[in-house]
Amino acid sequence: MPLGHLFSFRRDSIGFLKKIADEYGDIVHFKIGPIRIVLLNHPDLIKEVLTTQHHNFVKGRPLEMAKELLGEGLLTSEGEFHKRQSRIIQPAFHRNMIESYAPAIMECVTRLMSDWDDGMKADIKEEMTRMIIAIAGKTLFNADVEKEAPEINRALDIATSLFGRIPLPFSEWLLKLPMLPGTRRFYKAKVRLDNTICKMIDERRRSKVDNGDLLSLLLRSHNENGEGGQMSDQQVRDEALTLFLTAFDTTSTALTWTWYLLSQNPEAEAELHDELDHVLKGRLARAEDLAQLKFTRMVIGESMRIYPPSYLIPRQALKDFPIDKYIVPAGTIILMSPYLIHHDSRFHSDPEKFNPRAWDKHSHNQNSKYEYFPFSRGPRSCIGEPFAWMLGMLALATIAQSWRIKLVPDHPVEFLQLINLRPRHGMMMTLHRRK
Ligand code: HEM
Repeated sequence: MPLGHLFSFRRDSIGFLKKIADEYGDIVHFKIGPIRIVLLNHPDLIKEVLTTQHHNFVKGRPLEMAKELLGEGLLTSEGEFHKRQSRIIQPAFHRNMIESYAPAIMECVTRLMSDWDDGMKADIKEEMTRMIIAIAGKTLFNADVEKEAPEINRALDIATSLFGRIPLPFSEWLLKLPMLPGTRRFYKAKVRLDNTICKMIDERRRSKVDNGDLLSLLLRSHNENGEGGQMSDQQVRDEALTLFLTAFDTTSTALTWTWYLLSQNPEAEAELHDELDHVLKGRLARAEDLAQLKFTRMVIGESMRIYPPSYLIPRQALKDFPIDKYIVPAGTIILMSPYLIHHDSRFHSDPEKFNPRAWDKHSHNQNSKYEYFPFSRGPRSCIGEPFAWMLGMLALATIAQSWRIKLVPDHPVEFLQLINLRPRHGMMMTLHRRK
């Protein structure tokens, strides 16, 4: 690909990838400078990479820049080290543990609503972010970080605006050029995020309290040499920051798009209200209610079909590998897009329409696993998925029970394709108390 195309690719990768898939089919090879890239645009091909041949792929080059921020955390590490860390962290996401987070989640949701007035206008992306930062801080680290939420969010914005999901030639050089303003801002933001995490770790080490949350698991675990010592501070920091950052931007983005879609689809909104009124009868939701809140689940599932926060999943091939009738050489970067697959009429009927009932049918079809993959699939899929579902459902149920949230007329709604698929101009909405 000529370097001239690089800017449109960077500006609108979804648009670019859709165009080449429409033109060239389900396996498209292209280059950006010296970087060889293959787009796979069919669930069967995606299954090959994420599951069947997963040993032959690493996060690799696309995640190199994220490593500069996250270090060797669960998202960016590889091989045996990743497996070991994953084993240590898994218990924090077991069903029983997640259910025990429900009261803390509810406390943060109700606190957010207590700041709202009838008829108030607010950027719902900011509100959801503030709420999820408070929830992630409280449930994973037993720390109160709500007041720091705007600063944490700004630091994440700055840090992630420097690297997109797509590897560009020379992009790693950016971080080695401290005279560039963007690089200086990146390192300042990194220090800001480090301070929050290190403060939580220090406080917990000093208090010596072990309440079984994620931070306790990390601090209790043995170091990688199996010598029985604690994980080094650096390792704890990398894991804690990774989990904190992966949790809040994805989940707040998913909820923001959900409010937008509900405001555009009054029938679905009315059906959601009926379910909440019928199941909850005016009381606050609890973890035990989730099994009954079927339509609430469909609404979130369908929202992540239309706007999957992680819209692009990259891998890098370790060795040459066969796919369909081709051999793809080692080193190639593979791109797979939940957004493109979720909007493909071959796999989803009427794909632009928000139809939560259709998602229900889809979710029961086991063959369709790779046609719907907002949390990725295979051994490197999202460890936080069950937590994200519970958190999202409790927040949606609790808020929608008392509030209708309407898009401010003429507010522009566009994508910002950074690490996650965010609304470029935030989401200005009016909050109406339900009578
Ligand atoms: C709606 C919310 C969420 C979405 C859409 C989402 C999506 C994803 C996706 C697509 C991946 C795979 C990335 C890849 O293969 O390159 C991933 C990985 C990951 N997610 Fe999530 N996530 C969400 C919420 C969370 C939460 C709440 C947490 C933690 C509390 C979390 C922690 C992680 C971690 C640690 C990984 C790396 C797992 C590994 O590589 O072993 N995520 N997520």
